[in-house]
Amino acid sequence: MTSELILETRDLCRSFGALAAVNHVNLQFQRNQVHAIIGPNGAGKTTLINLLSGDIDTTSGSILFNDQDITRLPPNKISQLGVGRSYQKTNIFADFSCLQNCWLASQSRLSSCMRFIRPARRYDRVRDRAEKALHDCGLFDRRHTVASQMSYGEQRQLEIGMMLATDPQLLLLDEPLAGMGPDESARIITLLKKLAGNHTLILIEHDMDAVFSIAQKLTVMVNGKILETGSVEQIRNSKAVNEAYLGEDEDEA
Ligand SMILES: Nc1ncnc2c1ncn2[C@@H]1O[C@H](COP(=O)(O)OP(=O)(O)O)[C@@H](O)[C@H]1O
Ligand SMILES: [Mg+2]
Repeated sequence: MTSELILETRDLCRSFGALAAVNHVNLQFQRNQVHAIIGPNGAGKTTLINLLSGDIDTTSGSILFNDQDITRLPPNKISQLGVGRSYQKTNIFADFSCLQNCWLASQSRLSSCMRFIRPARRYDRVRDRAEKALHDCGLFDRRHTVASQMSYGEQRQLEIGMMLATDPQLLLLDEPLAGMGPDESARIITLLKKLAGNHTLILIEHDMDAVFSIAQKLTVMVNGKILETGSVEQIRNSKAVNEAYLGEDEDEA
């Protein structure tokens, strides 16, 4: 039986010296929802994602994924359980083709118990997953193109493909639209909406139009703390959020 809840943080904290970057964060993420996390620079959004993916250690508190405590697990174990992540800065092997990049990502998903599977079948599985990921991210026709020869937008698309090659249930996306032009953004937004059909997405994004069009739920973080969580409408209409965050944009306009 699968519960509605895929991920939960309990009193999650991470400090850097005296700075509480993530400060007693309690969040619940529903399966197959798009849950965006917004907030000003330095709010702690990337740190939160780094904690969820195991890239950095928690100071205190816990993280449950599918009811399993993953708080102290290393990133490769968390990935093998079904948590995929993308980074705020591009994280691909520039000299490798799209297929090679996805192949490497797909291989990283093999857990130790799969080492007992016959090499030929293991190879088939890794290849199939890499090819499916390229298809799903829209780069199958570009599979033999070397990553460095693609546009920035396509490279970010490839990153999503690499994440898909790990066969995740949950995607952690840190500013997938950063630095993109309108056409590239539109392509990624379409891709994210498609992926939302059968994945849970935790999306950090500054582009509010994109966030409001993709997400069902929003959490606003400020200074390491959760200011508010709610539906798109609730957050749009929240006085506290408008004062602390959304209002900034209106003032500038
Ligand atoms: N490795 C680190 N060492 C020291 N301070 C850090 C480190 N990573 C992040 N911080 C600090 O933690 C705070 C939150 O950063 P971050 O999570 O990157 O914010 P956001 O992604 O919301 O912009 C910032 O003040 C940042 O300078
Ligand atoms: Mg960040």
